Amino acid sequence: MESSREFPILDFSRYSTDFDGFSKDLFAASNEWGFFILTGHGVEGLERMRDLASQFFDLPMEEKAEKIIDRTLTGYDGKKLTTFAASEGMSFGHPAGGVLKTENLPTWWDSAKRQEVEDFKSGCYDLSIAIMSCFAVQMGRDRSYFTQFHQHKEPGNVLKLIKYPRFKERPTGVPRLSEHTDWGSITFVFTDKAGLEIRDPDDRWFDLPVVPGGVVVNIADALSLWSKKSLKSTMHRIGWNNLDVTTDRTSVVYFTHPNNGAVLTKLDKESSDEPLELTYRDYLKIRSALTYASTRDGGETGDDFEAFDETALNLVKSLRVANSGVLESHRLEVA
Ligand SMILES: [Fe+2]
Repeated sequence: MESSREFPILDFSRYSTDFDGFSKDLFAASNEWGFFILTGHGVEGLERMRDLASQFFDLPMEEKAEKIIDRTLTGYDGKKLTTFAASEGMSFGHPAGGVLKTENLPTWWDSAKRQEVEDFKSGCYDLSIAIMSCFAVQMGRDRSYFTQFHQHKEPGNVLKLIKYPRFKERPTGVPRLSEHTDWGSITFVFTDKAGLEIRDPDDRWFDLPVVPGGVVVNIADALSLWSKKSLKSTMHRIGWNNLDVTTDRTSVVYFTHPNNGAVLTKLDKESSDEPLELTYRDYLKIRSALTYASTRDGGETGDDFEAFDETALNLVKSLRVANSGVLESHRLEVA
């Protein structure tokens, strides 16, 4: 689908030459769309990440699945298709430095490769902080306002290499990726293939353009809550229509999370902070349980989540910034 509005494509070099104008445009894009494409972002090492992804996913299953994704969101994710996605992923969670030390990576990820992953994560982190400084200023705060809540401590930011494999024919009952919102603050999607669809400002599906050298940026739930939803956490999916089923699609995706203890505070220019009685730790736990309860048939992370508070669960469901219980394609039920 086309949209009657112009999708925002912004040049990050303006961050240093025209901070005020750039941050205003960034805020407007995030307010209207919740998504934008950033060129000139300067994150280095993308081609190497894509090479590593392609080498790793070509390994035999027993080597890839040596360590399965755990609650730190580290490990291989994709032994079988789920109703949520037809993909395989290699995920690197943990706070800064954690990829070097974790025991939950397949042996193939030796120390040199782990360092490259750390370096790439570090470049993405710096970009995420720069973007959030623009939002902070537009919300009438100091540039560094969000930095204190995003220190890349627990739970840490996640880099995920994702392959949506080609098929001879379109599988039934499985999307490339079901519609959802992201959980943390900001997500970066580096990809050179079409297929990502988002809800446009008129709430219709819109095919995101592919801009060479550009990174797709979207706002996630936590940052949306912080801004009283003036920054939008937008539903998105990857469909079968815009990319031939016989073509592989690879994404390198970076998820920025607030610190576990950060209180998701409603914040805007007019009013003072109103604590929403929910920390990011609580929010993450509930969202994980909601999501993995629906994919327990295909996931191996579902069983080890702790019990959570019923009141907090109802609060998350009532927020309606997220797939807080209902998706178009299937209902999420907490077992
Ligand atoms: Fe997403």
